[in-house]
Amino acid sequence: MRLSIIGTGYVGLTTGACFAEVGHDVTCVDSDEAKVGLLKSGGMPIYEPGLEELVHKNVAAGRLRFTTSIAEGVERALVIFIAVPTPPLPDGSVDLSFIEKVAREIAGCMTSYKVVVDKSTVPVRTGEKVAETIRRYCRARVDFDVVSNPEFLREGYAVEDLMHPDRIVIGVQSPRPVPVMREIYEPFGAPIIVTDLNSAELIKHASNSFLALKISYINAISVLCEATGANVQEVALGMGMDHRIGQEFLQAGIGFGGSCFPKDLSAFIKIAEQLGYDFRLLKEVQRINAEQMDRFVKKIADTLWVLKEKTLGVLGLAFKQNTDDVRMSPAIELCQRLLREGARLRVHDPKAMSKARAVLPEGPNVTYVDDMNAVPEGCDALVVATEWDVFKKLDLERARKVMTHPILFDGRNLFDPREMERLGWIYKSIGR
Ligand code: UGA
Repeated sequence: MRLSIIGTGYVGLTTGACFAEVGHDVTCVDSDEAKVGLLKSGGMPIYEPGLEELVHKNVAAGRLRFTTSIAEGVERALVIFIAVPTPPLPDGSVDLSFIEKVAREIAGCMTSYKVVVDKSTVPVRTGEKVAETIRRYCRARVDFDVVSNPEFLREGYAVEDLMHPDRIVIGVQSPRPVPVMREIYEPFGAPIIVTDLNSAELIKHASNSFLALKISYINAISVLCEATGANVQEVALGMGMDHRIGQEFLQAGIGFGGSCFPKDLSAFIKIAEQLGYDFRLLKEVQRINAEQMDRFVKKIADTLWVLKEKTLGVLGLAFKQNTDDVRMSPAIELCQRLLREGARLRVHDPKAMSKARAVLPEGPNVTYVDDMNAVPEGCDALVVATEWDVFKKLDLERARKVMTHPILFDGRNLFDPREMERLGWIYKSIGR
């Protein structure tokens, strides 16, 4: 089927590549000329495992192309996916101006029946507004359908999640676009749930908020574990073996971040408020998340007494492993807080160093270190801020020798406390 995707961010680009991979003819549209130029010349604007190969393969096969022209995208395709950013406004609500603009532009180019699908994370009732906007700005008076089809991919696992989704949600105003949507997703072999437009939009915000709630829940439990000498990983394991609870998203740490959970929680709280409901449960999820970071910074400060002029090696800058994304990264926030306390930082991340430089500039107090095993040199302590698997391979023996003191603050519970003690480290982690 002929598809177009407007917006080539994490969601748009990966979705486009995966649709092409299963045989659809895909046109990816982005207003950013530099980005489209880069993609056309074989470059990649983001790091996402497996994506580059998929894009190259499908461009070569003639199933995937890039353009800056919405008109071209609309003309070529029966189904047009909107995957543009929906950034937060200062009051926590969602900036829908990109969605509105794209809806107007699509409407202006439509000369035949189209299915316009929203993939961006949007407040409930956005689809209704998109439909209204298209109706208003469509010059040709042609028929169309608006569909909500939220995306559930995780950064760092985007290709895997898209190729093997748990479920596909299709929200519609009438049954007309359902067969087309089923045809698009049929090759992925996942269960498809068809709902009304508003339910589909709510499923997305409700899912992300629930996952964030799970993380805050285990982080709250980690506080009780620290107070009692219990082990949060064992508690999570025991809880998660109940299939109604499940093992995932029960890793205690320094809190969740990224471009989705913090923004979506604020948005959902705001949406609820506008609908007359005070979503206090989610406000508490936010509060626990913020406190988790406070507690970790305090743990470091209490152990080192004075942070001023201390050198700390920070492992991890991305908001989680397998990505170069540093948006709302707890690791970056941690670095900024340590800097405010007067510490000097030696930082490293396997993929996110170049993006991190823009928000955490190199300077007298921040040194970027290319080799993770060189980070500990001259450090008073090490801090693990992102759960990159590769950090488990840190040469601890060498680190001990080149540091002033062998102290490690593990904000992601990567190492085994007993083993670290045996190796002679002062080791502090979360909830253990
Ligand atoms: C999240 C959702 O997981 C996706 O399903 C959704 O599609 C996406 O948002 C979105 O709305 O676009 P993502 O933000 O890429 O995906 O990353 P996650 O893997 O969910 O991690 C989010 C944060 O939670 C990270 O900072 C991570 O370190 C933290 N986390 C995750 C924990 O602290 N503990 C856990 O057990 C899991």
